[in-house]
Amino acid sequence: MFIMPSELEGAARSRLLAALPAVLPPLCLCAAAGLATIGLAGCSTTFTPRDRAKIESLSPIPAPLPRPTNAFADNPQAAALGKELFFDAGLSADGKRSCATCHDPQKHFTDGKRFADGIGSGPGGTRNVPSIESVPWQTWFFWDGRADSAWAQAAGPIRNPIEMANTAAGVRERVISAHLAAWTPVFGEVPEDPDATLAMVGKAIEAFERTISPGPARFDQYVADIRSAGSSSVLTPQEAHGLEIFIDDGCTNCHSGPLFTDGSFHNIGVPQVAHGGLDPGRALGAIQVKQDPFNCVGVFADPGPTGPADCPELRFLDTSFPDWPLAFKTPSLRNVTKTAPYMHDGSFATLDAVLMFYSELPGIPLVGHRELTLQPLRLSGGDRADLIAFLGTLEGT
Ligand code: HEC
Ligand code: HEC
Repeated sequence: MFIMPSELEGAARSRLLAALPAVLPPLCLCAAAGLATIGLAGCSTTFTPRDRAKIESLSPIPAPLPRPTNAFADNPQAAALGKELFFDAGLSADGKRSCATCHDPQKHFTDGKRFADGIGSGPGGTRNVPSIESVPWQTWFFWDGRADSAWAQAAGPIRNPIEMANTAAGVRERVISAHLAAWTPVFGEVPEDPDATLAMVGKAIEAFERTISPGPARFDQYVADIRSAGSSSVLTPQEAHGLEIFIDDGCTNCHSGPLFTDGSFHNIGVPQVAHGGLDPGRALGAIQVKQDPFNCVGVFADPGPTGPADCPELRFLDTSFPDWPLAFKTPSLRNVTKTAPYMHDGSFATLDAVLMFYSELPGIPLVGHRELTLQPLRLSGGDRADLIAFLGTLEGT
């Protein structure tokens, strides 16, 4: 029996549509399906108006979010100072590790390793180094969101015994001995209080991080064409089919918006490995961010132009939310083809391994439950290749 493509939903429809052009003239197929057609290429890609709205929601990358608690966020001199600090190994206790050691600009601000090399001999913790290219658009920082601003985040690795292992006092000394020329025009005198100095260091580093972006990608050109002309030939049929799977198979439930992340935390049930014990994820991060002296309601947060920031995300954060155990932040997918290995613990070496995981959803989480919306997608090898081709269109140019 022949089923009209329009009677099918989601991935099944996309697979049928992908198979049909071989047997039917493309234009007949589009007419029969009764679907709005965008992205020509032999009419191999057809999107409903709902799909088209989803696609348009993924581009372009907007302006960086305002940061009311950092008065220096958009100060160019602070960004220049922040750049100096970001590349200064003198901020670490042994003088060997700067932020850029782990967040290497040549590797989209990651290190390409499963776990970072930290101070000492072992791996630098149990988490994979995330890119920092989406910092200007995030609300929570670290895989577990234990910092609520990029300037508060920066205070973490400098004092982390397995990362840079310094103290606030050590950072203050380093600022005085190595960075006064760039510091003084921005902040004036170095405060006596080492924590106040550390907060300023974080604010300068955030100003630098705000000058970084994943860069406009081929996908952005595709969406721009669709907006202006209704169609585009920028994506190959394979890439366009990958995009169709991406939006029809629920990836955008979490990898949403122009940065391909909802900024929230989900337990997707990545198999837990015995490396330093069970990682509680957001369940612990939510408690830590409430207690962080550098958070949005703390004394180091600058008042915004209209007075102290409201900090609703922090004030209304429910630390006992039942879905937090083993939940990790949805990572951005821009430049994802360049930032292997993947997941909070770097447990997947390739994108194909990630897609095999979404395909099978093996195992069950040791604590809590896997996000209920996730179902095994049973992607064929061809579908996975098409999805990876689509993810390649998110590489910044
Ligand atoms: C030893 C390696 C190492 C060094 C040095 C290091 N980082 Fe990181 N960075 C990491 C790891 C690992 C994570 C993830 C940790 C986690 O989630 O618990 C991370 C997370 C981050 C994040 C959060 C990104 C996000 O999307 O949540 C930012 C921003 C960041 N680092 C900036 C910095 C800055 C600024 C410095 C220097 C002051 C620095 N890092 C030094 C390894 C490092
Ligand atoms: C329920 C929310 C959700 C859905 C749906 C979802 N993801 Fe994810 N994705 C996440 C979270 C959370 C992580 C990080 C999990 C971790 O580290 O434990 C992640 C990680 C990834 C990564 C690894 C990125 C990196 O830098 O480590 C890729 C690639 C990815 N997802 C692609 C997809 C694709 C493709 C789909 C659709 C087939 C999809 N995701 C559906 C939430 C989701």
